[in-house]
Amino acid sequence: SQNKILIKGGKVVNGDCSFLSDVYIEDGVVKDIGVNLKPAKPEGVRVIDASGKLVIPGGIDTHTHLQFPFMGSQSIDDFYQGTKAAVAGGTTMIIDFAIPKKGCSLIEAYDTWRSWADAKVCCDYTLHVGVTWWSDKVKEEMGVLAKEKGVNSFKMFMAYKDLYMIHDTELYASFSRCKELGAIAMVHAENGDLIAEGAKKMLSMGITGPEGHEMCRPEEVEAEATQRAITIASLVSCPLFVVHVMSKSSAKAIANARKEGKVVFGEPIAASLSIDGTHYWHKDWSHAAAHVMGPPLRPDPSTPEHLMRLLANGDLSVTGTDNCTFSTCQKAIGKDDFTKIPNGLNGVEDRMSVIWEKGVHSGIMDENRFVAVTSTVAAKIFNLYPRKGRIAIGSDADIVIWDPEATRTISAKTHHQAVNINVFEGMICHGVPLVTISRGKVVFEKGVLHAVAGHGKYIPRQPFSDYVYKRIHQRDQVCQPVAVQREPYKGEVISIS
Ligand code: URP
Ligand code: ZN
Ligand code: ZN
Ligand code: ZN
Repeated sequence: SQNKILIKGGKVVNGDCSFLSDVYIEDGVVKDIGVNLKPAKPEGVRVIDASGKLVIPGGIDTHTHLQFPFMGSQSIDDFYQGTKAAVAGGTTMIIDFAIPKKGCSLIEAYDTWRSWADAKVCCDYTLHVGVTWWSDKVKEEMGVLAKEKGVNSFKMFMAYKDLYMIHDTELYASFSRCKELGAIAMVHAENGDLIAEGAKKMLSMGITGPEGHEMCRPEEVEAEATQRAITIASLVSCPLFVVHVMSKSSAKAIANARKEGKVVFGEPIAASLSIDGTHYWHKDWSHAAAHVMGPPLRPDPSTPEHLMRLLANGDLSVTGTDNCTFSTCQKAIGKDDFTKIPNGLNGVEDRMSVIWEKGVHSGIMDENRFVAVTSTVAAKIFNLYPRKGRIAIGSDADIVIWDPEATRTISAKTHHQAVNINVFEGMICHGVPLVTISRGKVVFEKGVLHAVAGHGKYIPRQPFSDYVYKRIHQRDQVCQPVAVQREPYKGEVISIS
């Protein structure tokens, strides 16, 4: 099939600049950028007209859980369905999570996820690895993953008591290890002990429906954990990435830390940027349950726009989706007890359009910031840049031709995901991907998928990117503790045993 493509007449939009230009692709990489490009040998070159359209780096979704075995179920969108939906929405790379059970090997989890994903992915991907318990073996395995498997990010859970949660001592140890290895410490920031107590209280009051899920864990439970993670990361001088930022309070803790020069990144998700938590009170149980995820969407209806503004001004850094889909019948395990509803919702297909609509079309951010928060900054943090996240000569040809004026209406009836419900149902979005190119191949065009399982590759990553390293290094210089030079104490020493 086609391995030479000339994209003509579009506006190239990167995270920091826009310019009218052609883009020439050969063998999966960008070979040339310029006005009126004429390939040396025009035979076999497919020309795509992009006039009036934007030519952007494919989206990078920093947070998915495809075919994730979780809460007595397995998320229904697997690596094939999930990445197919991703490219249909203009995302050309996902970062999923390999998560071991407590007591289990991190390397085995990594191998398991690789074995699931490699044969199925329709676009490139990489993996964060979960640290769900602590021991010398875990410490050693983090080293192997970082040095031999291309993992430079680990996720620690402050919630999901008994399943994944670790405490401050282990957070301190794992963050220190991340620092040593040049890896980003990621946290699920919610206080799991308080959630467990809150849940017991709700159930004892007879509140068993999805509204209990939000009420048992108000936003201060998320903010407290966010602040605690920031404190611990700061003490060991490790870069911190707070995943799925769902509340104003958590975002505020992140913004304040950044103002103090701390190296903290916040990741709001497509859902927290566009819908609120009032759905948990919906009369239809399946509708309410579809929105159950941790941390929850917040009932305060001004939250989504507030988070979008912080994303626009740089207080928050990147966007993922936390795509972790369970169909109504899977969610129904928790029909009599909200604590048993598998947590997670969709987004991998809709993130780009949702952020264009709520961010750019609404006037909150410009097209360059859109590219930055959907692709470039993720590539920089996770050390994929400039291979990913930029349209530049030598970069991977992961490119989307984007129509900023066309609209589409999001619906479970027409989406490409396996899940039967879409939390963005009925949302009309300006900003539509016309053509998605992954590794130099057209994988989606004018509504038709040409995605092929196994086309994508696992992308290994090196330790700390310059982007992260410079920030950490600056702080290390300010924060180096130095002992006071003094005469040794020569007097009496009294101790009681
Ligand atoms: O509810 C969620 N977020 N499900 C996926 C697992 C996680 O905590 O990210
Ligand atoms: Zn999480
Ligand atoms: Zn609703
Ligand atoms: Zn997640």
